[in-house]
Amino acid sequence: MNVNNNMEMKKSKVLVVGELNVDLIYDNIEGLPIIGKEKLAKNFTFTLGSSSAIFASNLSTLGTQVSFLGKVGNDEFARTVRKSLSEKGVITDYIITSDKYNTGSTMVLNYNMDRAMITYPGAMEHLLAEEITENILVKFDHLHLSSIFLQKALKPDVVALFEKAKNLGLSTSLDPQWDPAEKWNLNLQELLPFVDIFLPNAKEFLFLTKSETIAEGLRKLEGKHKSIVIKDGDNGAHLWDGIKLISKPAFLNTNVVDCIGAGDSFDAGFIDLYLKGSDLLTCLQRGNIIGAVNTSCSGGTGAFQSKQQVVKIAKENFSFELT
Ligand SMILES: Nc1ncnc2c1ncn2[C@@H]1O[C@H](COP(=O)(O)OP(=O)(O)O)[C@@H](O)[C@H]1O
Ligand SMILES: [Mg+2]
Repeated sequence: MNVNNNMEMKKSKVLVVGELNVDLIYDNIEGLPIIGKEKLAKNFTFTLGSSSAIFASNLSTLGTQVSFLGKVGNDEFARTVRKSLSEKGVITDYIITSDKYNTGSTMVLNYNMDRAMITYPGAMEHLLAEEITENILVKFDHLHLSSIFLQKALKPDVVALFEKAKNLGLSTSLDPQWDPAEKWNLNLQELLPFVDIFLPNAKEFLFLTKSETIAEGLRKLEGKHKSIVIKDGDNGAHLWDGIKLISKPAFLNTNVVDCIGAGDSFDAGFIDLYLKGSDLLTCLQRGNIIGAVNTSCSGGTGAFQSKQQVVKIAKENFSFELT
């Protein structure tokens, strides 16, 4: 039996630290909102939001054991968050309840292909690094953190958190996600030595490195990082292994339903295989196929009701045999 088979037998335990919120989605609204007036919407959906939750749910569906650590309020929305994650097999024991702040929520007003959103971040902004204790971290093989700019209280201590995780023997990954303030203030020189897999999309990478091109951004980070994976929409994704940049094309979907959560699903595909000991190029390809599967159904988890559904979409839509 080879090493790889041995690793597959052991199920890795992943701790996802991230933002949690619900989405209130209004469709077919009769015109734009006007102060002092009331508009009706023809459709409404209430669902679990947040990219971290999409990542955790889909990684769990792919077969990895996932626990979530985030902060919610003591309210009905929090019960929806926990229930939705549990239904996907995600362990919610480490989710912290705040008595001071309500659960985050986003109101999405859909107008054809465009949307207006209002977000109340609430409890997610108040998760502290000290709440992610050594006692918790040692129970896991891997730490994944997502949406650092939405977690304001955690952000100043993010380097220390990743250093602690590495010292405790965990592997680590980070998807920074968008900075709503567009300041892009994150010290990559200090942080990336403790991040095994850094997973920004191309736009985020350019803003974070204050660069015009990916090559320029990589030059600025010379020697300060392990592996960098840059997601590039329908161009696929790129891997910088410290020496060279290798690109893998997307499994192009010419019939996209929507791209909500494509990057989070890419991350789930990549990390699922990474934890099973696969080489990084195979992980890159797996990220691309899982990202493509995501674009075949609505929302970030629509294509991920079960592993069988993912396998079926990969085969039927992209001629890819997923094992
Ligand atoms: N039209 C598409 N067809 C196939 N795959 C896609 C398509 N758009 C995105 N993807 C996949 O999803 C991944 C993440 O998408 P991207 O938009 O770059 O990230 P994010 O969602 O974080 O902005 C891409 O790297 C690619 O693998
Ligand atoms: Mg993303």
